[in-house]
Order: sequence, then C-alpha cells, then structure tokens
Amino acid sequence: MSNAPIFVTQPYLPPLDEFLPYLEKIWDNKILTNNGPFHRELEEALGNYLGVKHLSLFTNATLGLITALQALRITGEVITTPYSFVATAHSLMWNNIRPVFVDVDPQTCNLDPKKIEAMITPRTTAIMPVHCYGRPCDVEAIQEIADTYGLKVIYDAAHAFGVRHQGQSVLNYGDLSILSFHATKVFNTFEGGAIICQDERTKQRIDYLKNFGFANETTVIATGINGKMSEFNAALGLLQLKHIDRAIAMRREIDGYYREQLRLIPGLTPLIPQDDNFNQSYFPILVSDDYPLTRDELYAHLKNHQINGRRYFYPLISDFPMYRQFPSAQSELLPSARFLSDRVICLPLYPALSQEDTQRIAQVLALPCVQEAAFSDSFMRTSPAIPFSDQSGGSNCEFGAYVPGFQSSHATLIAG
Ligand SMILES: Cc1ncc(COP(=O)(O)O)c(C=O)c1O
Repeated sequence: MSNAPIFVTQPYLPPLDEFLPYLEKIWDNKILTNNGPFHRELEEALGNYLGVKHLSLFTNATLGLITALQALRITGEVITTPYSFVATAHSLMWNNIRPVFVDVDPQTCNLDPKKIEAMITPRTTAIMPVHCYGRPCDVEAIQEIADTYGLKVIYDAAHAFGVRHQGQSVLNYGDLSILSFHATKVFNTFEGGAIICQDERTKQRIDYLKNFGFANETTVIATGINGKMSEFNAALGLLQLKHIDRAIAMRREIDGYYREQLRLIPGLTPLIPQDDNFNQSYFPILVSDDYPLTRDELYAHLKNHQINGRRYFYPLISDFPMYRQFPSAQSELLPSARFLSDRVICLPLYPALSQEDTQRIAQVLALPCVQEAAFSDSFMRTSPAIPFSDQSGGSNCEFGAYVPGFQSSHATLIAG
C-alpha cells in the first residue's frame, strides 16, 4: 500500500486542453477584467445552475463578505458564530463592526437560534451565520428573530455551493449570501467568490462597490473596493461548471465509503448526515471517549501515517488575540463550540481521492482500536484474575471488521 502523503483536500482541475480555447479567446480579445464577456457569462450560468436570481462575482469570499456589510450599511454589533474560518469575523472587524459570538448547536455546528436573542442589544444590526460544512442553518428560526428585531441576515455561505433547503437553493434565504470559490472549495476558480442578493437594486449597489464605487465613468457613489473577478478566473469557472456535477458525485461516493467504514469503528461519528441536498464539501467526524485516542492524538496519528486531517475549526475564532477580550468570547458562553473545536477533525475528501486512499485512511483510523483490543486481549490472556473465556468482553473492537481488506489475526493487523 502506498505511503504517499494524502492531503485534506486537493483542488478539482478540469483537463488543461479544455481550458486552452478559453485562454485563446482572452488573448484574442485582450479583455482581462472589468465585467468582461466571461464574467458576464459566468454570472448568468452560475445563477441558473444554483437557482438564484442575482449574483455578483468577486475576487474571493472575504472581499465579498466585507462588501456585503457595506452594501447593507451594517454598523454597530453583529451576531455571529465562533465556529468558523476566521474570515467570517474578520470581515466585521474590517468594517469597524463588533462581532458578538453566540454558541452553536452541537448537532449541526451552526449558530443556535435559541441563544441569539439573549445577545441582541440596541447596537445589533445584523446576524451573520455560517452554513457550516455546507449544512443549512436553521434559516426559518433565524429569519423570525431577524424580522422581530429588524435585523439583516448575511449568510457566510462559503461552504454552501449547490446546497438546497426545502426544494430551493439555501442561498435564497436571508438578505445576502456569500460563496467562496477558493481552491479548497467544492467549486473553485482558483480564487473567487460571489454575493447572492434578492433584488436588482442591491446587485447594482454591490457591483458599484466592488468596482471602487464607480457608478459610471465620472461618478463614484461610495468608498468602494477592487473586488472584481478577472476574466481568467471567470473562464475557469465556466469550464468548472461543466464538470461540477461529476465532481460532487465523486465526493458523494467517498462520503458513502467513509460512512460504511466508520460504522465499524467505535467512537468516530460523522457529523453531517448523508443528504443529497448537501454538497459533501467536508467530512467532519466527532472523536468521542469510546475511541482510544483524543482528537489531537488522532490528528498526530494520521500525520504519522502521512494522512493530513484538518482540525476545522480549531482554535475557535473567539480565541484569537483580536477577539478574546470581547465579553461574548468568554469560554463559558460557548460550551458547544468549544466541545466541537476540541473533538472534530475533517478527513481528506476530494474528487480524486482514490478507493485505495480511502481504504488506507480507514485502516489507519481503525488501527488504535485494533491495538487497544490486542493489548487488552493479551492482558486478559496473561491475567489469572480474568477467565480466558471472558476475553471478548474486554474490548469493544471486533478486530477483523475494523480494517477493510484485513480478516487476519491481530498480529498481522498491527504489522500491516
Ligand atoms: C466559512 C468561511 N468563510 C470565509 C472564507 C473565506 O473565503 P475566501 O478564501 O474565498 O476569501 C472561508 C474560506 O476558506 C470559509 O471557510
């Protein structure tokens, strides 16, 4: 079995020869950016694919988030989650807005709507939840709170490409949603992102803001920024779109395989349910006390076998130096986020991950169980206090079952 490193993700890339005609077009027309033909075509194609009406492409999701807050003139305080990538809260800080961290639901990893109201103050103007790992937030409950208190809702939908909820795109909920097309995401344009909004007027404002605030050649309506996606990235996006269904189907297969294997390993539980409305962007597992290693020990164990899991999301955003002094960052207010941050690891998941690689990962995950079982087995054999016939009760591992492809003795398993 190969011992080559396996990374937590690997970008999907279409065949290079399919990209060359796009490059030739760019070389011919010399339009590199500024709402060029590929940019316009991708906005329309993505809108159709995702089932959303208004979409503005961006250089990346972080600039999308920063601009989204500007577009809705958000100020003061915004309720958000500590269990996310740091860009979620950074986008608030770049707008001089104070993030107010609210705990997550430990089942969904998403902002817990039951805990939001207690953190609303007269300075609160919006809620910025994250569809963590592509699992939709409780969008109905969040909207009800927003409507009651007159708050805007801006979803960090960086993980939610193609995700559906109640028969439609999850991006149609809230005031704005921001996608990431970063290399690590389900759909990538190398770097890239988009804001989805619900009306033409808001799109117009967003488009001005991402182009320095220019409304026309001589009119600047706001202190905008340069958030424009280039023609190169947009062309790549158009090509990626042709392959995206296959790429997601390949992710689904790996997701299914992991689930089969994990049923045999005590203490490792998939966090996201199997659901065809989701996009299989990540495969987070919860490491519970039934597993012989802690999450961090498992992380190191995988690394020792050249397998790179990722502790998404550890540390919590609220633990970083620029956030930890905020009252809402106090640990006792965020027990579920802390629990997940200490116990979750994302397994490698990307379309090109081979069956052989997934088997290798499953074997390495099972190994500590096998070793523990073998240890307690030999302990029981040598301990006069424990009758030999009780040995099977000494462990909750059924060795052969844990290591796919291995049905042999403990010694072989460990040597393998
Ligand atoms: C939840 C979340 N928000 C925002 C971002 C930032 O996206 P980008 O890299 O496109 O700026 C990421 C990216 O990794 C993310 O995971």
